[in-house]
Amino acid sequence: MSHADPAAARPRRFTATGALRGRIRVPGDKSISHRSIMLGALAVGETRVTGLLEGEDVLATATAMRAMGASVERLGVGEWSVHGVGVGALLQPEAALDMGNSGTSTRLLMGLVSSHPIAATFTGDASLSKRPMGRVITPLSQMGASFEASEGGRLPLIVRGASPAVPITYRLPVASAQVKSAVLLAGLNTPGITTVIEPVPTRDHSERMLRGFGADLTVETDADGARLISIRGEAELKPQVIEVPGDPSSAAFFLVAALVVPGSEVLIENVGLNPTRAGIVTVLRQMGGQIEEVNPREVGGEPVADLLVRHSALKGIEVDPAIAPLMIDEFPVLFVAAAMADGVTTTSGLDELRVKESDRLAAMATALAAAGVRVEERADGLVITGTGGEPLVGTDAPIATHLDHRIAMSMAIAGLVSRAGVEVDDTRPIATSFPTFESMLDGLAA
Ligand code: S3P
Repeated sequence: MSHADPAAARPRRFTATGALRGRIRVPGDKSISHRSIMLGALAVGETRVTGLLEGEDVLATATAMRAMGASVERLGVGEWSVHGVGVGALLQPEAALDMGNSGTSTRLLMGLVSSHPIAATFTGDASLSKRPMGRVITPLSQMGASFEASEGGRLPLIVRGASPAVPITYRLPVASAQVKSAVLLAGLNTPGITTVIEPVPTRDHSERMLRGFGADLTVETDADGARLISIRGEAELKPQVIEVPGDPSSAAFFLVAALVVPGSEVLIENVGLNPTRAGIVTVLRQMGGQIEEVNPREVGGEPVADLLVRHSALKGIEVDPAIAPLMIDEFPVLFVAAAMADGVTTTSGLDELRVKESDRLAAMATALAAAGVRVEERADGLVITGTGGEPLVGTDAPIATHLDHRIAMSMAIAGLVSRAGVEVDDTRPIATSFPTFESMLDGLAA
């Protein structure tokens, strides 16, 4: 879905609801869902997935893998069957691959195509077409793939894979799990050993899942603390049975909602707490948030727990920039928590937020200021002076979400603690990652 037509936008005003109470189960993790389909499509035999996120981004990955020869079938709610073609056997897609809003689909699939003897055209919506692809084009070119990209290394672009591709050792210049994963996935069908050096750890789902599917992948740490991730190519992947844990990035909206709305108590079930993803829980606790982990367990090789969250008096803090990669998608909603905290919250080291589905620093600074929040936008972060729990003023005019699901959901939460409410210009993009967000929110408020 492109959500391109502004006339079809679905605006909504989010208003104070009173305490949020009850239990919810957030949908499957987006990162793990994408990778389940991609790796299933490269394994020979049937991979079964439960708890798959059925958001538009993941569906774009499913459609693309079908176009390259895999059978990807929905059996029931969140229950999918993937029959793969085998590493090295992806087929030439007949039409352009429409990636919609999804940067993860685009960058990871560019990696896969790069080491197969096929060419593919990638297209996307207005938001995705502004995002930089040079960060994957650089290493994938070194592996032998060739690219015809739009100005500035953007979509639409054509990838021509190399066969055989050349193994490389690549040091990541930006902390990006998508770039890391693109190179590792290209390495799957590359003779020899492909290595990614990661100076700062980012989400490690690709490493965990590649190993789970039987790839020969090792991780070492060097003297400077950088991670060296090596994959042996021309791998044979074995089909898996995968249970996808709940997405901590989706849970984050309800964590913050329950913390800031007086009287709330919410149990969020089945939340993935992989240490490379759980930074938001750490930071909200540092701010004084009461978040209890109940029934910790393992689901699909990932640590998971239910999170019991109670309304809390939050205090402003200086957020350590080193934690940013471990909660990179959660800053928009953290800014809402900061707006309700007592005192000043300072964030820094967030340059990457400017190249997400929107420029999230600019979008959130503008949106929060419009809702009456004292916010200063700096080059690499926001400084927010919170109300100490007093409701925000709210907005008259609709907030511009720039086709960014996380801006829409964050400002929806801000609406719950605003006198006038907050009007979001378009709720349609929420379906890219969290199609049940609005119904879950309405259910807790009822
Ligand atoms: C993702 C990596 C992150 C994140 C995105 C999902 C992934 O992007 O923002 O939502 O699944 O690998 P970057 O690699 O650009 O930081």
